[in-house]
Amino acid sequence: MTVHDILKMGDARLLRVAQPVAAFDTDALHLLVTDLLDTMRAANGAGLAAPQIGVDLQVVIFGSNARNPRYPDRPLVPPTVLVNPVITPLSEATEDDWEGCLSVPGMRGIVPRWSHIRYTGFDQYGDPIDRVAEGFHARVVQHECDHLWGKLYPMRMTDMGKFGFTEVLFPDLAAYADD
Ligand code: NI
Repeated sequence: MTVHDILKMGDARLLRVAQPVAAFDTDALHLLVTDLLDTMRAANGAGLAAPQIGVDLQVVIFGSNARNPRYPDRPLVPPTVLVNPVITPLSEATEDDWEGCLSVPGMRGIVPRWSHIRYTGFDQYGDPIDRVAEGFHARVVQHECDHLWGKLYPMRMTDMGKFGFTEVLFPDLAAYADD
């Protein structure tokens, strides 16, 4: 188990389209998932994508059984390992809400996302995942999978007037302002 450094915006490795995973239930994939979990927990992340630790593969993790101190008022999202994901919007409806990212530390911005999605893919054992999600759950999935297409949330923003420092926007979250 290893807590990795998280790449920050400006690093070209965050802008790559990640490669699909070709083999499941391998030692290498299990080690990657363990490292992602250790790194996400150490940073109090809501999710983490392999490219954020410099690994060029389509693997994301998100969710938790415990409430996240960075997002104390958000609903729980089931702990998930998602490999080779595909996201399909279930309607054209979008909604705006605040997002942060461990690769954009100390900042938050308002990002439009699809309200209702279906997401499919596999877990690390190769078992299929096929879920419908809405709201915060749908947002987290879209944010994490965007890392696999080389997109960071500021690239999805439509109003840069709603982008700022966490410690200014949300003083109550100042203890986590270094995220
Ligand atoms: Ni992120």
